[in-house]
Amino acid sequence: MGKVILTGDRPTGRLHLGHYAGSLKQRVELQNSGSFEKIYIMIADAQALTDHFDCPAKVRSNITEVALDYLACGIDPAKSTLFIQSQVPELAELTFYYMNLVTLARLQRNPTVKAEIKQKNFEKSIPVGFLAYPVSQAADITAFLADTVPVGDDQLPMLEQTREIVRSFNQLYGETLVEPQAVLPDNAACMRLPGTDGMAKMSKSIGNCIYLADSADEVYRKVMGMYTDPKHLRVSDPGHTKDNPVFLYLDAFCREEHFSRYLPEYQTLQELKEHYERGGLGDVKVKKFLYEILKEVLDPIRARRKEFADDIPSVMDILRKGSIAARKTAAQTLERVKHAMQIDYFA
Ligand code: TRP
Repeated sequence: MGKVILTGDRPTGRLHLGHYAGSLKQRVELQNSGSFEKIYIMIADAQALTDHFDCPAKVRSNITEVALDYLACGIDPAKSTLFIQSQVPELAELTFYYMNLVTLARLQRNPTVKAEIKQKNFEKSIPVGFLAYPVSQAADITAFLADTVPVGDDQLPMLEQTREIVRSFNQLYGETLVEPQAVLPDNAACMRLPGTDGMAKMSKSIGNCIYLADSADEVYRKVMGMYTDPKHLRVSDPGHTKDNPVFLYLDAFCREEHFSRYLPEYQTLQELKEHYERGGLGDVKVKKFLYEILKEVLDPIRARRKEFADDIPSVMDILRKGSIAARKTAAQTLERVKHAMQIDYFA
């Protein structure tokens, strides 16, 4: 059997540098590696509605934003099937059957869901759909018999839940579904890119994101305003690089060739860090260097985004065609699932 990728994002906002480092970059690399037979990239609007059921307009408007971000990063509709989750109703049907294989206690133990419940103040009244979204995520993955799921590490509990469902299903009803593997970014710094304020994660509600759609001026302003070591007041002061987001971004994006291009006094990131830690290296200089590196990443993304944004009807057409193709595959899996479960009465 060929290798199949499925992954996706909730359309609740534009995608940012954290998404890029944590998953988008790797998806494009995997897409272009040519070693996958099928690649499905899903805009998870139904999942977004599990905690945004009261703001459908927001979910709707972010469908195109996320699609533009994907295309801008190099997701190529000739190589990857881009689709919208709600337009594949087979996923909801699969979810319904998978729910029998999962206990309430198991869902309540999911650490990512737990953290989200806290963050959203859902403790007292958790919507059933929200608590059960890991089950629907298992449907997303298994509907395409995906064996490879490139995601950030916050999604590992979803993959574990999916594997458990697959194992129970296959055991009860016969070998039908495929157990998927997560693929995480190989660079640890990419996996945990903090916000520009040094907080653990980029988050729209905190306002600490660099968006893929930000103008060059906005990126410059955000980089120059980044949190650094608060004790590094004068250039001569020794500074910390460990919890310093400017250096964490450099860990994620800096390559040796960037030094000869933008900061030829140094040869390696290690050398730069040592100077900062010793004292005598100012924040502005390091931030300007980081800005040049991010500019290399973001300029081409921004230019491509603009091209696609000028032709929204063709973007919608990509999503429409992708959704039709995805539905076809999901329907085949659903048929096999129903056969395995002996509910194929009229076949
Ligand atoms: N949970 C993912 C997110 O928060 C989106 C998603 C939905 C997903 N279904 C998926 C990711 C299946 C990977 C595989 O963005």
